Amino acid sequence: MNDTSDVKIYEYDAVIVGSGLAGLAAAKELTEAGKKTAVITKLHPLRSHSGAAQGGINAALGDEDSTELHEFDTVKGSDYLADQNCVELMCTKAPETIRWAEQMGCVFSRKENGDIAIRPFGGQSKPRACYAKDRTGLALLQAIYEQAFRAGVEIFDEWYAADLLYEDGKVSGVAAYDIRNSQPAIFNAKVTMFATGGHARAYRFNSNAHANTGDSLSIVARHGLPLEDMEFVQFHPSGLGGSGVLISEAARGEGGRLFNSKGERFMEKYAPNALELASRDVVSRAIMEEVRQGRGVGKDGQSVNLDLTHLPKEIILERLPELRELAIAFQGQDMLKEPIHISATAHYSMGGIPTNINCQVRKNPEELVEGFYAAGECSCVSVHGANRLGANSVLEALLFGRHAGENMVKALDEGIALRKAQTSDAGGMLEEVNRLKTSNGMESVPGLRAELQAGMTADAGVFRSKESLERQLKLIDKLLKRYKNIRIDDKSKTFNTDLQEAIELGHMLEFSKFIVVGALNREESRGGHYREDFPERNDEKFLKHTYAYMDKDFNITTEWGDVVLGKFEPKERSY
Ligand code: FUM
Repeated sequence: MNDTSDVKIYEYDAVIVGSGLAGLAAAKELTEAGKKTAVITKLHPLRSHSGAAQGGINAALGDEDSTELHEFDTVKGSDYLADQNCVELMCTKAPETIRWAEQMGCVFSRKENGDIAIRPFGGQSKPRACYAKDRTGLALLQAIYEQAFRAGVEIFDEWYAADLLYEDGKVSGVAAYDIRNSQPAIFNAKVTMFATGGHARAYRFNSNAHANTGDSLSIVARHGLPLEDMEFVQFHPSGLGGSGVLISEAARGEGGRLFNSKGERFMEKYAPNALELASRDVVSRAIMEEVRQGRGVGKDGQSVNLDLTHLPKEIILERLPELRELAIAFQGQDMLKEPIHISATAHYSMGGIPTNINCQVRKNPEELVEGFYAAGECSCVSVHGANRLGANSVLEALLFGRHAGENMVKALDEGIALRKAQTSDAGGMLEEVNRLKTSNGMESVPGLRAELQAGMTADAGVFRSKESLERQLKLIDKLLKRYKNIRIDDKSKTFNTDLQEAIELGHMLEFSKFIVVGALNREESRGGHYREDFPERNDEKFLKHTYAYMDKDFNITTEWGDVVLGKFEPKERSY
């Protein structure tokens, strides 16, 4: 794959990379509006990680709830770093989004009276997570996929988008190759959207699918475009001990309690009111603190007990069946009979590709890139700030995905010219593929990846300090050098997963550097970012978004961007 004459060129009104909830919701809007739309995905759409979301999707549907309370909880949960204009849009449109999803065919769990059931989640003043048992993301993904498919979206599954066509402040599509046979192609488009999901595979313990390698982050950054607030990584309190596989917050929402090895319900100490339903950053730190103090459970003492044995059996069987099966399959622990071992697991990225409220990608805090949109976890519209509330991610993906679709339709209707691509626009991708395939060094991709992941968990994880972050920064710089000396044994063109994993590792090394540099610069503690050497939040200096840029030698520079404040004044959080 080194000859540009072999490159096919496809032309579309819109090209979307990623086929989770955000990508498919946007694609559906575009196609129904008569726009020729392609979705490119390295998986099949129904394997997208949105389908792994278990516990719920927030909307103020309860009698005592209100969209303003949802806004307040979201801003407070974000440790006041969320952009409040975007939060307002999300929370006010959430009830309508649920009704829309229902009309699309999503089957939600119901109350006796037929209303959509809601359950409590962390950081909520009132219960507001709508759910479909413990398979909410899958129920939504299936419904939206069916509707996008019915509308006529063209889906290129098992295609790998490896580069962005970006010139003079304008994006005009992507370069990609067919994973089945390595056929390279340009997807030339008037508007392009990234909706590629999360990046927690950079951590040793994580709740994410294998595919969550944050590809679009470094693809964007390689063109000198910024990433925003990358230091804010969410650690979900309940991953299965040892593997990190997600045990939904729904388990605590339905009444699950946390205990240390002494049988103490330790959340009484850390969040006396909210207990297990404090926001995720608070609960994760409490769990890891108990482990650090030697009060962990399990063979290695690295977990705590999540106990649901006091709940009626029917609640677990009816509302949490998948969680029960996961704990039995991975740990041989049946939550009907005994507590299960859980620990904090890397789960979600609050930061990402910066966008404005209309999902248009930013070139810097003031300027926008033409023809380029992003939504869902890979983006940072900043509704989550420094810490996301559970059940707000599925909402964000669906709502802002649809919103991006509507905005792209509007932009296309107003008239955007197609900047015609050349086969040579695939040059960057072809050079990368050839370099990696012909590299015959001594380093293995799995080996380097394991070192990166172990370091990220140990030194850029729940607890961070100058010392630990500098250690991780040094490690990443070394790994970036060693990456030049990798060896790929599979030289074939057919389903070359060795090649794909090598490309993905390059991405992981680069965006991990953004996480670490951002965390070093931010000398305060806020939300999911906890600096042991700066344990307090410092609004005077750091009530700001980080914008970070990478040069060709992987040096990263940063600047600060303003937070959009609003009706909720920053206050100290208590739970
Ligand atoms: O715990 C969960 O079910 C995860 C939901 C989320 O991250 O929003």
